[in-house]
Amino acid sequence: MEQSSDRPFTGKRILLGVSGSIAAYKAVELLRALMREGADVSVVMTDAATRFIAPLTFEVLSRHPVATDLFATHQEMLHLTRPEEADVFIIAPATANTLAKLALGLGDDLLSTMVLTASCPLIVAPAMDGGMWDHPTVREHVDQLRSRGMTVLDPVEGPLASGKIGKGRLTDEQTILQAVESCLLPKRDLAGQRMMVSAGPTQEPIDPVRFISNRSSGKMGYAIAQAARERGAEVLLVSGPTTLPVPPGVRCMHVETAEEMAKALTTNFRWSTIVVMAAAVADFRADKPSHLKIKKQAGAWKALALTPTEDILHTLSRQRTRQILVGFAAETDAILAHARKKLTEKDLDLIVANDVTTKDGGFGSDRNAATLITRDGADTPLPLMLKRELADHILDALQPFIKRAALPKPH
Ligand code: CTP
Repeated sequence: MEQSSDRPFTGKRILLGVSGSIAAYKAVELLRALMREGADVSVVMTDAATRFIAPLTFEVLSRHPVATDLFATHQEMLHLTRPEEADVFIIAPATANTLAKLALGLGDDLLSTMVLTASCPLIVAPAMDGGMWDHPTVREHVDQLRSRGMTVLDPVEGPLASGKIGKGRLTDEQTILQAVESCLLPKRDLAGQRMMVSAGPTQEPIDPVRFISNRSSGKMGYAIAQAARERGAEVLLVSGPTTLPVPPGVRCMHVETAEEMAKALTTNFRWSTIVVMAAAVADFRADKPSHLKIKKQAGAWKALALTPTEDILHTLSRQRTRQILVGFAAETDAILAHARKKLTEKDLDLIVANDVTTKDGGFGSDRNAATLITRDGADTPLPLMLKRELADHILDALQPFIKRAALPKPH
């Protein structure tokens, strides 16, 4: 596909959905900005949107008929063809009603039906008045859409059409353009890298039916594996037991115990250029796991003798030749101090420190808030965000180490 650097969206087709908010007029400027970047944009409007702004405006500017009606015969099958052809689908502005329809999978008009048939990335920019954005139902819908991989851009704070001040204004054009850019022009800055990512918990057997484990879901490690693959790395995921699907293009070794995880990682260590140790390795295993189920009678449970497992990251760091090493520090107190100690003791390049006691972040959640601490002492605190977004921040933070590793070694 033709692409020119001064018009980066040249050759890209964008479907712009406009729903019935007073901010609909801003979609006109957005359309023009997307076209200035070279995109071929066609517009679909809800009935309510046509009350705020005439379809003719979009039609003249986009040079395409504007789709509005699911049942109009001259627009037949547009609900299938337009999304099929699109490289990215933007809904701006998206009302609370549109968010609800998207979350529930309703298809009672052309725009919502197109969302159901689209397989391209979807960017949603909500705009709404009053306290709607903070309403628990709206929050739930937004969370659902995000957990399905849609990009939902937070509205911004400011004066609203009603005269109230609040969070509900359509986000700025630049933010929407950036989101489009990251969908259309994904970074390939990890091409040539071979990354091992460990994820999930380990399970250490006590007997054939019981084990010692932890609350890790594996979501963070899987998100990193997926992001690294999308950015061009070859990725080997070494995963403890989880229910997550392996991201496309990622090679996965499934393991159960810390010992199995250590074996998989040390065997492939020389192959790797980057290791991200996101797994929550159990720190202890049963000293003598029983081959038979331990019965509850006869005081068999008075004590369980434990042995520490191998610290895999420590072992890898002692064997390193040129690998970049990333660790995680899941903490409940003195988070940064504990994380820094681990960074030094395990001789890491970067450690991701996070507080696992928070309600919205940590184990099992789709989100996490973390501080990235690098070997050179720089701390980058990051707010609560999707683990997939955090994954990209972590990979961004590795770039200086990758560049340094690429420099010829001094003689
Ligand atoms: N780790 C490891 N092998 C272990 C334990 C931890 O490789 N047996 C790795 C984790 O994957 C993580 C980092 O070491 O990247 C820190 O793990 P964490 O559980 O936070 O700390 P520990 O070193 O186990 O120390 P503590 O449990 O005392 O906090």
